Amino acid sequence: MPKVFVTRRPPESSVALLNDAFGPKNITVFPEDRPINQDELLASVTGADAILSMLTEPMNSEAFDAAGSQLKIVANMAVGYNNIDVHAATERGIVVSNTPDVLTECTADLTWALLLATCRRLSETERFLRSGKWASWSPTFMLGVDVYGKTLGIYGLGRIGKAVARRARAFNMKVLYHSRTQLAATEEAELGLTYVDFPTLLAESDILSPHCPLTDETHHIFNAETFKAMKDSAVFINTTRGPVVDEAALAAALHNGDIFAAGLDVFEAEPAVHPDLLTVDNIVLLPHIGSSTLETRAAMANLAAENIIAALKGNTPPSCVNPAVLEN
Ligand code: DGY
Repeated sequence: MPKVFVTRRPPESSVALLNDAFGPKNITVFPEDRPINQDELLASVTGADAILSMLTEPMNSEAFDAAGSQLKIVANMAVGYNNIDVHAATERGIVVSNTPDVLTECTADLTWALLLATCRRLSETERFLRSGKWASWSPTFMLGVDVYGKTLGIYGLGRIGKAVARRARAFNMKVLYHSRTQLAATEEAELGLTYVDFPTLLAESDILSPHCPLTDETHHIFNAETFKAMKDSAVFINTTRGPVVDEAALAAALHNGDIFAAGLDVFEAEPAVHPDLLTVDNIVLLPHIGSSTLETRAAMANLAAENIIAALKGNTPPSCVNPAVLEN
């Protein structure tokens, strides 16, 4: 029977799927509830036919070689897979899979929760109330910015970007987007979207939210120059990957008033947060919880398990990111 190594305990339903498929004695779950470190990973993957991985650990040639040539699949429990060296996996004939679709709506909901919390200064005002300093209603106290009727800018229009755009209709927003590829006119009309170039997206958005994957092209795409090109009243939201933003530049932009506020669910070097971000008031900071609901995390883990079961039984995994491997 094939052997599966799971790098951190996922929702139980996914372990049950693997147990049913291969027998519990062939499934090993890293026993501690923390990210596995590199030495532990290299020691644990030896002989594995499949690895169910988390976005917190780098899966690279060292890990693939430590596993051995029988390794058939690395199934990431995340839609993003920038932690995996897909090129090295493909060279070795290893399938890489992710968990798209099942987290789209949940992540779009969190993006909106963060957007509203940031525009209306919810963290800051709650901190103030808890501090016991609230003395009275005031006509000028902690004023936020309107959301309804504003212009939302989306950078990178994949599944999550589209789901965020759909929700903007309820807020009567104009939605601009910039993406590598422009949608067909029919889809743009259906979603109420207008394609613009990047400088226009920066200049015209009241609220800007990237939904692009992290690649060489998108690394630090939001930096000192781009924050300066945004409106002083702009709100910047990030629920995709931390390194698309130069955090030091964002902190400076907030301190200098180049933009009004920011809401972040992801960071450049998680779980570390740039110290300058911790000293600004007009920011909402969340610990990467975009997909963290009971239903969605179970669906993500189950999909990762299904990818493994398909690959090890010689079937096509439902969400393979390097399909060239399956053609050989
Ligand atoms: C993902 O799936 O890539 C998310 O960041 C996990 O929350």
